[in-house]
Amino acid sequence: MVARGGAQLSCCVLMIVSLVIAAAPLGLSGGGERSHRDRMARRLETLIAPSSAADAPSISQAKSGSRVYHVIDYGADPKGVADSFAAISKAISDAFADAASGLSLIAGISNLGGVEVHLDGGVYVVTSPLTLPANGGNVKIHGGSLRAADDFPADRYLIELWAAHDSTAGGGASSSGYDYEYVTLRDLMLDSNYRGGGVAVVNSLRTSIDNCYIVHFTSDGVSVRSGHETFIRNSFIGQHITAGNDPGEKNFTGTGINLAGNDNAVTDVVIFSAAIGILVSGQANTLTGVHCYNKAAGWGGTGIYLKLPGLTQTRITNCYLDYTGIVSEDPVQLHVSGSFFLGDANVVLKSVKGVVKGVDIVDNMFSGGGKGVDIVRLDESNGKFVNVDQVTVRRNSVNGMTARSTAARATVEGNGTTWTVDFSPVLLFPGRIGHVQYTLLADSAFPSHALRNVSGNTVVIESDVAVQATLHVEVDQGLGSMDGV
Ligand SMILES: *[C@@H]1O[C@H](CO)[C@@H](O)[C@H](O)[C@H]1NC(C)=O
Ligand SMILES: *[C@@H]1O[C@H](CO)[C@@H](O)[C@H](O)[C@H]1NC(C)=O
Ligand SMILES: *[C@@H]1O[C@H](CO)[C@@H](O)[C@H](O)[C@H]1NC(C)=O
Repeated sequence: MVARGGAQLSCCVLMIVSLVIAAAPLGLSGGGERSHRDRMARRLETLIAPSSAADAPSISQAKSGSRVYHVIDYGADPKGVADSFAAISKAISDAFADAASGLSLIAGISNLGGVEVHLDGGVYVVTSPLTLPANGGNVKIHGGSLRAADDFPADRYLIELWAAHDSTAGGGASSSGYDYEYVTLRDLMLDSNYRGGGVAVVNSLRTSIDNCYIVHFTSDGVSVRSGHETFIRNSFIGQHITAGNDPGEKNFTGTGINLAGNDNAVTDVVIFSAAIGILVSGQANTLTGVHCYNKAAGWGGTGIYLKLPGLTQTRITNCYLDYTGIVSEDPVQLHVSGSFFLGDANVVLKSVKGVVKGVDIVDNMFSGGGKGVDIVRLDESNGKFVNVDQVTVRRNSVNGMTARSTAARATVEGNGTTWTVDFSPVLLFPGRIGHVQYTLLADSAFPSHALRNVSGNTVVIESDVAVQATLHVEVDQGLGSMDGV
């Protein structure tokens, strides 16, 4: 059954390829909806000829004036042998020429009404990037695989929302200042063939990358620059196709997702190989449900690298950092919660100018191999953290790693005039205790007592007379001079 269906299909493909060679010039001269209808009608005629029941869906599409542009109609080779760049490019430019009237997107962006470029479930080799025409939106490209040819330019991406590379429309920004709006890339496998990257989204509004599998990039799987609201969700991204424990892991390079813009969301995404899983250098991005096992920290990899010192504004929730951790430079407003760190993965706060403010690392699980790795570590190789305020590292569950916290409690008993608790094994910042609360429980006397010293993260309480007593003490170090909680 399967073999017979396949044979029929390739027969149709051959017919369509010959059709397109004849039809392409007509499509060029006509342009827009009308030429599209003509093209569909011609496709219909060709498809009727074999009179196969399997072709019924195409017939109904043509009758309804479908605005689904099938790349096979344009002569793209779904077997991935011939270069399909020109064919797919033409399907895209026809789709973008097909703007709906009376509906508008943001100023200067043509509303394409939900037009689709359908990859017809094929694998297509392209020698050049598929750069979408600028100033269009409400369009979907979906349903197949693209592979970069061996001579594909190594500094480019398979699919580009990148006006500067759009030769047809002059590459200028629209009157709104954005170049694309509401473009959806869905159900695509993008194989960069170790020639450049997967998708570039530049100066775009409201882009979705959904259910995509992006591999073999040397630069970035997905690169987002300026613009905002790119949603990358439910996708799988890796430089090499592997499922962990790859013998070549230490050689992994590239970045799974590079967010150099604001207000984006990465949701339910796996990064399975790359030197850096997600690199963030724009504010107000949120990462949730991300599983990084891209390159182990032990090989020099980083799961999530936050390179926005001084203004971080990043939320990381419900993620899975699998042998590779989070690094944040001078974090200012960073939230990490509900996440699972496996295999000694941790959070590194890296000092650039010594600022760490408004950081919450709470309610996570950390699991390691008993080697004494800190769950949160300060990298002060560029200088000490000197500007510390509102830092909360608490309530993390720790197994086989060293707990670090900005708050701690202890209870000690003694008989004498001095009670001492050294909190340095657990406190995150050295020599910094902002607040202390203590209670001296003495059942047989009422001694005078006082907090005498907190230097070196060691709390010393003294009483005027020797007593048998229990000291309960609580310290907090992540605070400024006054704290609101
Ligand atoms: C990693 O790269 C080095 C240097 O290019 C090479 O010698 C080595 O064979 C590679 N290792 C693996 C496992 O691919
Ligand atoms: C506490 O120490 C004093 C001597 O320093 C001793 O007299 C007293 O019995 C001790 N109390 C307890 C409860 O051990
Ligand atoms: C507090 O303790 C440190 C370290 O033991 C010591 O150098 C310092 O003099 C003490 N300060 C006071 C006021 O006792």
